[in-house]
Amino acid sequence: MRVCVIGTGYVGLVTGACLAYMGNEVVCVDNNEAKVELLRSGQCPIHEPGLPEILQQVLAQGLIAFTTDIGAGIHHGEVIFIAVGTPPLPDGRTDLRYVEAVARSLGRHLDSDYRIIVNKSTVPIGSGDWVRMVILDAMQAAANPHPPHFDIVSNPEFLREGSAVYDTFNPDRIVLGGNSAVALEKMQTLYQGIIDRTYGADKTLPPVPVVITDISSAEMIKYAANAFLAVKISFINEIANICDRVGADVQEVARGIGLDSRIGQKFLQAGVGWGGSCFGKDVAALIHTAADYGYTAEILQAAVKVNQQQRLLVIEKLQQSLKILKGKTIGLLGLTFKPHTDDMRDAPSLTIIEHLHRLGAKVKAYDPIVSQSGLRDGIAHVAVETDVERLADGCDALVLVTDWPQFQNLDYPTLATLMHQPLFIDGRNYLDRARLEAAGFKYIAIGR
Ligand SMILES: NC(=O)c1ccc[n+]([C@@H]2O[C@H](COP(=O)([O-])OP(=O)(O)OC[C@H]3O[C@@H](n4cnc5c(N)ncnc54)[C@H](O)[C@@H]3O)[C@@H](O)[C@H]2O)c1
Repeated sequence: MRVCVIGTGYVGLVTGACLAYMGNEVVCVDNNEAKVELLRSGQCPIHEPGLPEILQQVLAQGLIAFTTDIGAGIHHGEVIFIAVGTPPLPDGRTDLRYVEAVARSLGRHLDSDYRIIVNKSTVPIGSGDWVRMVILDAMQAAANPHPPHFDIVSNPEFLREGSAVYDTFNPDRIVLGGNSAVALEKMQTLYQGIIDRTYGADKTLPPVPVVITDISSAEMIKYAANAFLAVKISFINEIANICDRVGADVQEVARGIGLDSRIGQKFLQAGVGWGGSCFGKDVAALIHTAADYGYTAEILQAAVKVNQQQRLLVIEKLQQSLKILKGKTIGLLGLTFKPHTDDMRDAPSLTIIEHLHRLGAKVKAYDPIVSQSGLRDGIAHVAVETDVERLADGCDALVLVTDWPQFQNLDYPTLATLMHQPLFIDGRNYLDRARLEAAGFKYIAIGR
């Protein structure tokens, strides 16, 4: 099938590359010229396991092309994905300007051939109809001579950064919202190789469930899924804070409740709270949508509040041990919002850095990706070190913020000797207390 993907970020690039890998002819459009140049030269602009290899292969096969020419992309695609960013506005509502710009371009460039326009960006409930309206208005404004001949499908994305390629080929479900049987049928054909697990890790599994629904429900499924996961993490963090006070161990508690199949083991790791490009903005958007309809989303508001407090918990723990933080040096292990990604959007590390800086502490950090990449956009008030020894040197405390697997195997006895005071705050409950204590650290975790 001929596919156009507009927006080559974490979602668009992975979607485009995977659909090309499945044999589709894909044109990826982005208005960031530098990114398009990089992609054309075969380089991958993001850190995503498995993606560079797939990109090299589909480029060599001629199955993928990159362009800044949105008109060319629109003319190419029978199926056109909108995968541009939908960042939060300062008040928490969704900034739809990128989606709107794409919809206007569609209005200018659509011709008489039938097109399926797929909203893969996470957009507020009702956006499917709004996109249709913007396209029709733009067609009229541009005096586009062709009669409208397209359907809108909502196809929310559930991939996780850090395992985006794996998730694309092994999804828990595919959600398709729309009211055109033709469009929904064609989308299932496009995804058939994923649905029947041709590209999956375990080909013996039953087919991937496909949820066919209306556009608004599809849009809501995405928000409800992220909101549920955010609430689940805030819930276990709240339990951890109670554990801290009563002397229980949240990891034992999480294991004990997670074995209940109604609860499940996942997303029950207490720590410095959730972050990343999606949870915060999607929960905020859902709270706003509810408010627009006169409803106060109490549970969602509480989840956000618990998360804000949770990010500052490590500061509280540092203060309990070190008392005054002014003039102290704190080393952060990890900056990205989770391991295996280079994404710093809404990372808990940024909040921790800002507060430590405000309290007069000197902040250093080491991150396996950020330290090597040299990318420091949006990271202020922190000295990014190139190795862990330089990080530990002279520190009054180390704080593990991101659970990168390589942090399991650091030479902790040496790091302890390099420090001014060997204090270790494990913000992810990731390391073994006995090992850290044997290395000479005072070890403090979350809810244990
Ligand atoms: N990142 C995730 O893990 C994830 C997961 C599920 C859903 N989503 C959703 O997917 C959408 C995209 O997220 P992302 O993280 O990939 O965003 P991103 O910021 O990484 O990428 C967006 C891309 O769109 C491009 N762009 C913006 N306006 C454009 C235009 N007019 N024409 C062409 N290109 C344009 C940008 O240059 C950028 O490369 C968002 O709505 C997000 O909420 C993201």
